[in-house]
Amino acid sequence: MDKVCVQGLGFVGAAMAAAISGARDSHGHPWFDVVAVDLPAAPGKARIDSLNAGCFPFQTADAALNETVKRGRDIGNLRASADPSEFETCDIVVVDVGLDVDFATDPPSARFDGFLAAIRTLGGRIRPGTLVIIETTVPPGTVSKLVVPELRSGLRARGIDPDSFLVAHSYERVMPGRGYLTSITNFWRVYSGHTPEAADACERFLKRLINTKDFPLTRLARTIDSKTAKLMENSFRAVNIAFIEEWARFAERAGVDLTAVIQAIQMRPTHRNLMRPGFGVGGYCLTKDPLLAGVGAREIFGITDLSFPFSEAAVKVNGEMPRATLVLMQETLGNLKGKHVLLLGATYREDVADTRYSASSDFVLWAEEKGVAIDIHDPLVDELEDISRKVQRILPRPEGYDAVIFAVAHEEYRKLDPVAWLGPARPLIIDANNVLSAAQIAAYRIAGCDFKAVGRGDL
Ligand SMILES: NC(=O)c1ccc[n+]([C@@H]2O[C@H](COP(=O)([O-])OP(=O)(O)OC[C@H]3O[C@@H](n4cnc5c(N)ncnc54)[C@H](O)[C@@H]3O)[C@@H](O)[C@H]2O)c1
Repeated sequence: MDKVCVQGLGFVGAAMAAAISGARDSHGHPWFDVVAVDLPAAPGKARIDSLNAGCFPFQTADAALNETVKRGRDIGNLRASADPSEFETCDIVVVDVGLDVDFATDPPSARFDGFLAAIRTLGGRIRPGTLVIIETTVPPGTVSKLVVPELRSGLRARGIDPDSFLVAHSYERVMPGRGYLTSITNFWRVYSGHTPEAADACERFLKRLINTKDFPLTRLARTIDSKTAKLMENSFRAVNIAFIEEWARFAERAGVDLTAVIQAIQMRPTHRNLMRPGFGVGGYCLTKDPLLAGVGAREIFGITDLSFPFSEAAVKVNGEMPRATLVLMQETLGNLKGKHVLLLGATYREDVADTRYSASSDFVLWAEEKGVAIDIHDPLVDELEDISRKVQRILPRPEGYDAVIFAVAHEEYRKLDPVAWLGPARPLIIDANNVLSAAQIAAYRIAGCDFKAVGRGDL
């Protein structure tokens, strides 16, 4: 069995470690012995302890993921550790540590320190022949110009042939949520190698991990090509989302049902990926990835006369999105000072226990600036960590609130019976994210609640 170390036990690394431990040969035997390696300090330690107890370290709606972790722990091919000496005996390392963007600088820059420290650890530990697969989202050029030299100098310092390792790049399209695990094992992958041998080794690994019969792999010639593919793919999505914003504002003011309009347009096959209006864009990827090509151009290639106006504008427009809900609230309630509001949903996406860069955080701060007293509910988390606000897990009654905002399409809200939940209360209801069904909307309106929805001027 090949030993695989996954470096970084976060939302990607933890799911990758589980998926790799679940890979089986044609006789049903595990292909891999998997060790997820994180740092000894919190939150790494909590994640390590959780995995070693047979539990996925984040609350997830994906039962298959929980089962895979438990099975891996039970049969002994999945564990976690804070001991970097694990890298000394592994055949493959999958790098899933983060790389943050510093938004405070102008233009934004990359915080390479933590990522390069992780690579340095590998350079000081791995043995000759080890395959290192970079999954971390990095600026273009990082693999060939930073990772490879760092690994070389680590091996050279130990008197080992500095070219005796293999480096590949393959990017994650993991989608936390109900299909978290299968978004790794049953999904298309792009990969590349620093050398043809590294690309071949990466391909052999991915073929054992992924259902490549139904989801064929795409090999690109250079690591910078696959890195560019990752960033362009996420930038395309961010731009698509931002494009809808101006139409949503028009729809709200001019009496248009933009949701129905979009459905009509989507009948045309070339326009199926038109996005819907929503509450905001959060999470660790779409909020920063569209900026990383510019960072790579400037900081790695020294190209200073290039800009990415669409991608940069998309990040800006998407970042402002939650203000639209504030405006809808103001239109009905007038001055917001002293108003009491219940925000339903704190995570960046439905059925995912991740609040990083969540639109709810910005909304809360902007509403508080206007004097709103805001309570937050979410069935999956206890805190909006970015802004240190407590989140209730038990859905409060609506009595006493001037407005209730459905911000995230968690299952609990999609299943909520409006009549039973409302009781005598009649707050303003805002569907900020296409959460409610037509029947739920009708029930709130028939009950006598004022009702507004992002992107809908018809209500
Ligand atoms: N979250 C997603 O849906 C998603 C999807 C695709 C790609 N990505 C990319 O994958 C990467 C990881 O994202 P994430 O959401 O898992 O991040 P995360 O912050 O949840 O996890 C990163 C983990 O790496 C650990 N770490 C940092 N330095 C380390 C070191 N030297 N050794 C061992 N562990 C170390 C941290 O303690 C943390 O637990 C990012 O580059 C991200 O952009 C994320």
